[in-house]
Amino acid sequence: MGIDFYISLSLVISLILFFYIFLSGFIFGAGYEPTPRNVVNRMIELAELKGDETVYDLGSGFGRIIIEISKRYPNIKCIGIEIDPLKVAWTRFVLRRNRLKAIVIRANLLKYDLRNADVIFTFLYPGLMEKLGKKLLSECTKKVRVVSYYHEIPFIRPVLIDHRHRIFVYDFYPHS
Ligand SMILES: C[S@@+](CC[C@H](N)C(=O)[O-])C[C@H]1O[C@@H](n2cnc3c(N)ncnc32)[C@H](O)[C@@H]1O
Repeated sequence: MGIDFYISLSLVISLILFFYIFLSGFIFGAGYEPTPRNVVNRMIELAELKGDETVYDLGSGFGRIIIEISKRYPNIKCIGIEIDPLKVAWTRFVLRRNRLKAIVIRANLLKYDLRNADVIFTFLYPGLMEKLGKKLLSECTKKVRVVSYYHEIPFIRPVLIDHRHRIFVYDFYPHS
């Protein structure tokens, strides 16, 4: 096979990837934009993680947050929830290659049982944040800390705001 074949193959693969990334927003309801690395570091700092907690990244994308957390905190139970199968497959590949304990589950975050969560990370569009806020208010059975990049939960007052990085921190408590 000549060099032309490989050039054409790379072009076809690039086109497929381009359209996948572009169209996945329409197919799965949200596009992909990773949380910037400096923001990930600050989010982890604000989450004040403890060794034995259960931590979720809702809409985990290609796994940037769960990979970083499981590298730093090997004992934390770290779970990514992601609706897009390609991102799930890639994240599983990276986790396996790096022998990290985090897992990623292909699911709709609004239908997933989050009652065992201690900390939740998010970078989701506003409509989803509102639905997630309502879900946590009605379902949480213990205190849950939510650390959100960029978008707020509209009807809940954050316990902390990092204006520079646009991070909002919320504490949810179960109904008494
Ligand atoms: C802006 S990206 C954030 C990715 C990742 N948290 C990060 O910071 O690198 C949002 C992700 O949420 C996923 N997503 C959107 N709606 C979802 C849903 N209902 N359930 C699960 N994942 C969803 C998208 O596929 C996308 O990968």
